[in-house]
Amino acid sequence: MIHPSQRDKENEPAYRREASGPMCRPPFLGGNKMVRPVIAGNWKMNKTVAESVDFAKGLRDALTAATVPEVIIAPPFTSLGAVAEVLRGSSIRLAAQNLHEAPKGAFTGEISAGMLSGAGCTHVIIGHSERRTLFGETDARVNLKLRTALAATLTPIFCIGETLQEREENRMKPVIERQLKEGLNNFSADDISRLLIAYEPVWAIGTGKTAAPAQAEEVHGLIRGWIADRYGKERAAGIAILYGGSVTPKNVVDLMRQPDIDGALVGGASLEVASFVQLVEYQNIQGV
Ligand code: 13P
Repeated sequence: MIHPSQRDKENEPAYRREASGPMCRPPFLGGNKMVRPVIAGNWKMNKTVAESVDFAKGLRDALTAATVPEVIIAPPFTSLGAVAEVLRGSSIRLAAQNLHEAPKGAFTGEISAGMLSGAGCTHVIIGHSERRTLFGETDARVNLKLRTALAATLTPIFCIGETLQEREENRMKPVIERQLKEGLNNFSADDISRLLIAYEPVWAIGTGKTAAPAQAEEVHGLIRGWIADRYGKERAAGIAILYGGSVTPKNVVDLMRQPDIDGALVGGASLEVASFVQLVEYQNIQGV
């Protein structure tokens, strides 16, 4: 089977086809960033198959070849196959919200990386705070899942972030560093270049409380610095670090203006085509 990332090659803008690495990409709007912006929608446990298909058609038809960011949507498992059909031939990428680290077997209710690729996914969200806090996912488990995704040539969207209590106790930095150290345990420089990172402060998710742009930038800078210390500045500069937590068309521009914020992982505001398209086209909201 042709991998979706191959299948859609001819639909890629010229700069994507010609670029052979992050440093070959042109600077994108949003400062002198060398990383293509990414706007990703995490639908969580929302939308039936029919609702998902309607959304995917609406989004596909709203985006043009001039769309700058990489656009990713993460429907629930049940909708992946049907949404993949709608997105076939478009440049919109399909993500799952989780996977199981085993290739197959007696794991009732779980989904493997191979099943996701087979359904048309190119990306998978791993280590979301809801998985960590509600379903007991540990850093070690997240590490296994990241490895499994990479082995299946799925691009992981690796989520990290501190809780309100951790922030209030001045533990944001050690928590973020622990999540990076344990989540990325034994990762090579090549592995690092194959993932997206999402900083999602748990206190900002679904609460309407966005991190102030400077607050988010501080943590994004910390993450990039951590990677630069271990894998070099060039690798670190080429990694997209997304912010997630109550992102809306109202605050996206100020967030995207920050030098280390390369994109957004959006929950609530990704559920309506109109607001998601506004986010994807954030450069039109005002000059970034
Ligand atoms: P909200 O945008 O609804 O706060 O959700 C953020 C999130 O968890 C995305 O993964």
